[in-house]
Amino acid sequence: MNWHVNILTLFPEMFPGSLGQSLSGKALDRGDWSYSCVNIRDFGEGVHKTVDDTPYGGGAGMVMRADIIESALLSVENPGRKIYLSPRGKPLTQALVQEFSQEPALTLLCGRYEGVDQRVLDAHEFEEVSIGDYVLSGGEPAALILMDACIRLLPGVMGNDETVSEESFSEGAGGMLEYPHYTRPADWQSASGDVLSVPEVLTSGNHAKIEEWRRAQSEKLTAARRPDLLKK
Ligand code: ADE
Repeated sequence: MNWHVNILTLFPEMFPGSLGQSLSGKALDRGDWSYSCVNIRDFGEGVHKTVDDTPYGGGAGMVMRADIIESALLSVENPGRKIYLSPRGKPLTQALVQEFSQEPALTLLCGRYEGVDQRVLDAHEFEEVSIGDYVLSGGEPAALILMDACIRLLPGVMGNDETVSEESFSEGAGGMLEYPHYTRPADWQSASGDVLSVPEVLTSGNHAKIEEWRRAQSEKLTAARRPDLLKK
């Protein structure tokens, strides 16, 4: 299976960025996924290849033009699901990541400046997606994050499929945060001189007890850090 992402951006040099390394980089080399960038600048107007203009109604910043973005979009042969990365979007969740990773193709629109003309989003039914409640200077890092989260779910990308089913937010973890992890040495003296030992239950060999302990840790952590997840 090949998962393809079309990226509409003014900064194609930002890709594949971090996705060219590690697991996602190897998967890219294998052809498990592919991407192509469309440089929105190529569709700009005049000698300066202008892509933006001042906002109607006044206000700060510049708005990317609907006609320019539409031309860039229409150059994509097989756009698939169209996504506009924006802090105003619906939150990117693991469930949404799972959906996106099962689409054959996506088109990600990365905005700069104050945003893009609303009409092109409406006319082409872009889904607006946010990666969190903070504002980035552009959609590109958000696109890289969305893609990273999808790529690791593609068949064969992660060595151990159990890792995926047990991790935070997964069904296997009850939609909660994951329990803490430990490895050797069992007794570790930190630089402060304190000796920190692994929780005894983990070295007991009692798998039922271990599972129970992990579940309790997950619940405690989730209640403290993300009570919103327990309500779901
Ligand atoms: N572009 C700017 N901020 C963003 C955010 N939080 N999520 C997605 N795209 C963005």
